Amino acid sequence: MFFKKKINDTPRNIPGHIAIIMDGNGRWAKNKGLPRKFGHIEGAKKFKEIARYCNKIGVKYLTVYAFSTENWKRPQEEIDGIMNLLRDYLKDSTNFKGENIKLRFIGDKSALDEDIISLMEKSEAESNDATGMTACLALNYGGRDEIKNAVKQIIDDGIKSENITEELISSYLYTHDFPDPDLIIRPSGEFRLSNFLTYQSAYSEFYFDNVLWPDFSTKDLDRAIDEYNHRNRRFGGV
Ligand code: FPP
Repeated sequence: MFFKKKINDTPRNIPGHIAIIMDGNGRWAKNKGLPRKFGHIEGAKKFKEIARYCNKIGVKYLTVYAFSTENWKRPQEEIDGIMNLLRDYLKDSTNFKGENIKLRFIGDKSALDEDIISLMEKSEAESNDATGMTACLALNYGGRDEIKNAVKQIIDDGIKSENITEELISSYLYTHDFPDPDLIIRPSGEFRLSNFLTYQSAYSEFYFDNVLWPDFSTKDLDRAIDEYNHRNRRFGGV
């Protein structure tokens, strides 16, 4: 059961870092009798809307799961469709630079097409002076893959076991210059993390919603933030 709280008017804490698993695109399309790709098209539009809104209300970091290390198992046509949406988004700098949004990426770039890697680098450089929110797209990202790569690099750097700390491990992750997520949102009625921000989510608050991602509205986000404001974050203390 999902209980939707009324949005109240009292000042609220805006989470510094929100992370979203943009789930439910396929089901959204299926419910409308459309091919899955239409769900992803709407999902990409929704990302732009939610990113703009997060920037407006003062979120500092927004990380979205755009393509996981497991998503390569999907039909090639669907993968190509998602990659084309990313191309379209990155080619138009009004989507991020025009919104004063700084763009960053996490994940293993090496498996992505050359032209996408170039677009990623160009958009990071173009938006580097933006003073608003940082939007981080997780692309070919997997939390376990990230930890595995960090361990390999730590070993290659010859770091001695006595020098291994939690902070050192964090500094070897793709997210080394981001704070951990305060609030992780998953729409579409699934209650899993699905290999997203595995190390970073240790003390995150989780918010699950039945709404499918293309239908997720700024009001739904407000509800998630409202619910976050009622959580008592103790970080293991009392
Ligand atoms: C999960 O829904 C969604 C994805 C694996 C892809 C998400 C990608 C986008 C929203 C487009 C990315 C582009 C930009 C510009 C951010 P699903 O397909 O697993 O849905 P289902 O569970 O209903 O099948």
